[in-house]
Amino acid sequence: LANGLARTPPMGFNNWNSTACRAEFNEAMVLGIMDIFVDQGLREAGYTYVNLDDCWAVPAPNSRDAAGNLIPDPARFPRGIKYLADYAHARGLKLGIYTSAGTKTCNTLGFSGGLGHEQQDAATFASWGVDYLKYDNCNNQGVDPVLRYTTMRDALLATGRPIVYSICEWGRSDPKVWTWGADVGNLWRTTGDISDNWTSMIGKAQANRVLSQYAGPGQWNDPDMLEVGNGGMTATEYRTHFSLWAIMAAPLLIGSDLRKATADTFSILKNADVIAVDQDPLGRQGTLVSNDGAGHVVYARTLANGDRAVALSNETTTTATIATSAAAIGIGGSSSYTLKDLWSKATSTTSGAISASVGAHATTLYRVSRAGTTTRIEAENAVFTSGS
Ligand code: DGJ
Repeated sequence: LANGLARTPPMGFNNWNSTACRAEFNEAMVLGIMDIFVDQGLREAGYTYVNLDDCWAVPAPNSRDAAGNLIPDPARFPRGIKYLADYAHARGLKLGIYTSAGTKTCNTLGFSGGLGHEQQDAATFASWGVDYLKYDNCNNQGVDPVLRYTTMRDALLATGRPIVYSICEWGRSDPKVWTWGADVGNLWRTTGDISDNWTSMIGKAQANRVLSQYAGPGQWNDPDMLEVGNGGMTATEYRTHFSLWAIMAAPLLIGSDLRKATADTFSILKNADVIAVDQDPLGRQGTLVSNDGAGHVVYARTLANGDRAVALSNETTTTATIATSAAAIGIGGSSSYTLKDLWSKATSTTSGAISASVGAHATTLYRVSRAGTTTRIEAENAVFTSGS
């Protein structure tokens, strides 16, 4: 969506994967996450949005006041939503909220949805200082998704407040959301809900990685939020999760309760080299270079300075050598290349072979640069710089 927002994939937090609707989803949690974003350097690493998911309101039939305005659950959020937004803004952060493009949200407790209330709810969110809306798909009454999501887009734009717009339609209906999402939202879910296990996570990557052509600045494929730190995968699997989300230019929304995070969790989430791949300003989602059909998969992503990010991903339970080449990832023509392993930080030089022994469920993520001779890209950059 050309609203000037999300020129790189959104980064932040959402409570759903760690709390769902449980009581621990409350003001103390949200403020605690914001404090950690500031104190632990996550804000400096790029994480900005702290997003509330389902169940923040009073359940129906009392979700709305006499004037029809949504009411925050006073048990969870005694000081309301604007208090959270103000707290975020005072710390250089942003606040996100959630509702559904239906009569009710997804949770069975039954919270009022946005269908038929688009202008009023968008105005409420804007008046609270909300910066991001995730708009779900439950209880949609069979109304055309393009119409439902476009109506809320227009309501958000009409508020005049910059609000990132996240379409949560899951890619269920035809025409598929990625074919129409770019004009409607800043990101759109391409899959159903992720769970905190390898099979779920890799399934989301497999569905999302073939949709590169639809992504770009302001319009991202969203294979769902991160599970890093929730405990259902190994550190190796979480590094694969984070690597693949980065090479796919996916939103990086932390889905674990950082108040309980281990050192491993922070070291994954704060890996600046991997974040730089995700946030590369060219905004091109990585594509598949090869897939042998047996679980050995190579992805490559073109970066703004002409480098390539390359993921050698082993979806099997046996260590394997996975290989590609500079030519195959579209950076051929040089006599020498530098490979930086973005997890170990080791660098090496190659004349074009790119390979690694990759453990079970592991991913080697390289940044590949031309080295040695002056390259065409460097020459072009030099001309561009001197002429600007
Ligand atoms: C379905 C969405 O896909 C999830 O991410 C989450 O928002 C739940 N609904 C909340 O009910």
